[in-house]
Amino acid sequence: CLELARGAECFPLSLGSLSIYNCVLAADFLCTDWPQVNYISINNCRSPASLSIGSLTSVRALILYHLPDLCTLEGLSTQEFDLVHLVDVPKLIPECISQFRVNHILQVSSSALLNNILSAEGSTVPPFLSLDECKEPFISLDESVNFTSVRTLSFRDCQMNSLPTNLKRFPNLNNLLITCCCNISCLPDLPSSLQQICIWDCSELLKESCRAPDGESWPKIAHIRWKNIR
Ligand SMILES: *[C@@H]1O[C@H](CO)[C@@H](O)[C@H](O)[C@H]1NC(C)=O
Ligand SMILES: *[C@@H]1O[C@H](CO)[C@@H](O)[C@H](O)[C@H]1NC(C)=O
Repeated sequence: CLELARGAECFPLSLGSLSIYNCVLAADFLCTDWPQVNYISINNCRSPASLSIGSLTSVRALILYHLPDLCTLEGLSTQEFDLVHLVDVPKLIPECISQFRVNHILQVSSSALLNNILSAEGSTVPPFLSLDECKEPFISLDESVNFTSVRTLSFRDCQMNSLPTNLKRFPNLNNLLITCCCNISCLPDLPSSLQQICIWDCSELLKESCRAPDGESWPKIAHIRWKNIR
């Protein structure tokens, strides 16, 4: 357990990539000026309720996993990323990240975080969206979000009882990945653009439902070119 305060004082200014596991962070840890840092990953750490991330304008990838204490990220102005993961940060207040713009990959564990980032004014919807470790029984997608840019949609380790029913709102979706979602037993109507569906380590019920020729969900996936169900 490492009490890290004023990170700039212990790391070089040339720092490009930072991964932290199992530490205790001080409130001002990220409030430093690393002009070249483009990748920050913080996993399984205790922290104050609020972390300031002042001037990390060069950051392209921000990965936050399993941070039980974190409620707000402060000091953010509108910031653009290529990749953002916010997984199991249960107290994070969705409004505090609504200035994030994510260009390529967005991976979150709650629908509130997803909807907040994507429905903010001026927001872009990245081509890869993933819900990971979501504990909600149903996911509702904000009506105001335009999902035409999404090519890949992934659900991993989620507890929901069904996929969102309105997947037709993803008219250009190519890949649908469903991994370790054991409470899902059948599929909703799917967009005709789908090229690939992967269903891995889900329930027997879902597998049965996808089986040709009699499974309840089979007519929904029969047209998909690559089906990978195991
Ligand atoms: C998912 O299934 C598990 C095991 O049956 C159950 O304990 C859990 O409450 C379910 N989750 C939801 C959100 O329904
Ligand atoms: C969604 O965005 C696409 C292109 O980005 C645009 O062509 C389409 O009209 C938009 N749809 C709605 C309902 O705003």
